[in-house]
Amino acid sequence: MTRVAIYPGSFDPITRGHEDLIRRARAFSDRVIVAVAVNVGKQPLFTLDERVALIRQAVEDPGIEIRSFDGLLADFARAAGATLIVRGLRAVSDFEYEFQMALMNRNLAPGVETVFLVPAFDLTYLSSSLVREVARFGGDVSRLVHPAVRKALQTKFGK
Ligand code: PNS
Repeated sequence: MTRVAIYPGSFDPITRGHEDLIRRARAFSDRVIVAVAVNVGKQPLFTLDERVALIRQAVEDPGIEIRSFDGLLADFARAAGATLIVRGLRAVSDFEYEFQMALMNRNLAPGVETVFLVPAFDLTYLSSSLVREVARFGGDVSRLVHPAVRKALQTKFGK
C-alpha cells in the first residue's frame, strides 16, 4: 500500500521550518503532497503562483509533489488518496487551533489521520508571519528561508 501524506498550509512564504517538516514527513511516507491553500483568509503577501514557485525552488525532492487546493482540505486529501495529514506543532499556542482542525478534518474525512510533527529545535520559533515582518523592516532572514525566498522577499519589499 502506498502511503500518501498531505502537508497543507499557506506557505506565505515557505520557511526552513516547513522544509524541515517536509523532510520528516518524507521519511515515513511514500509520497508527500505539499498542498498550498488558495484561500488563506487574510490577504497573502505572495500570490498562489509565487508561493508554489518558491516551494518548488526550496524543495527539490522528486518524491514531493506540490499542488494547490481550493475548498476543504478533507475533500482534497480524500481525492488525492491520502491517509495522513501532517501538521507541525511548535508551541503550546499552536495546540488548540491544530486540535480543533484535526478533529474537524476527522469528522469530514474519517479515513484520514492527522499526525503532528515537532520541528527541529532551532526552527521551533519560526513562522512565515515573523519572517515577513523581519523582511519587511530589512532584517536578515538568510538563516530562516531558502535563498530564493530571501530574494523574493527583498524584491517584494524593495530592499
Ligand atoms: O499554514 P496555515 O495557514 O496554518 O494553514 C492552514 C490551512 C490552510 C491548512 C487551513 O486553513 C485549511 O485547511 N484550509 C482549507 C479549508 C478547510 O479545510 N478548512 C477547515 C479546516 S478544519
